Amino acid sequence: MKEKIAIGSDHAGFVLKEKIKKWLEKEGYAVSDFGCFSAESCDYPDYAEKVAREVAKRKNITGILVCGTGIGMSIAANKIKGIHAALIHNEFTGRSAREHNNANVICLGARVINFATAKKAVNAFLKARFQGGRHARRVKKIKRLEKNV
Ligand code: RB5
Repeated sequence: MKEKIAIGSDHAGFVLKEKIKKWLEKEGYAVSDFGCFSAESCDYPDYAEKVAREVAKRKNITGILVCGTGIGMSIAANKIKGIHAALIHNEFTGRSAREHNNANVICLGARVINFATAKKAVNAFLKARFQGGRHARRVKKIKRLEKNV
């Protein structure tokens, strides 16, 4: 079964978030939209928190966050325990975010990449699988850092 998707954006990411959501629904993913719901100015940490909390409490779910650069969303989402949010820009970083980092949230910059590139990046992430091995050792070290916070 396809993993569930929790999606969110601020005003800068709103249009790209809507396009990604519609495309993923067409692809058969169950997408929950945590806002924002218009291009009116708002604060990205509010939406990063909603999506990150949802991902942290469920299994088999990926978070997708879109803001202007993807940077603010990734900083904010990574403050939530259990969240490994990765900023992705293209197919390669999308695939690596899963294969190497086992991210559970991916962040995109709507002022950095267009829909065609975003689609490739998200698709590469969703189709990839965590490679384990040496990467598991490294991810474990990140989890250990979180425990010491
Ligand atoms: C909003 O203007 C912009 O700062 C925000 O979307 C994001 O790029 C922050 O990291």
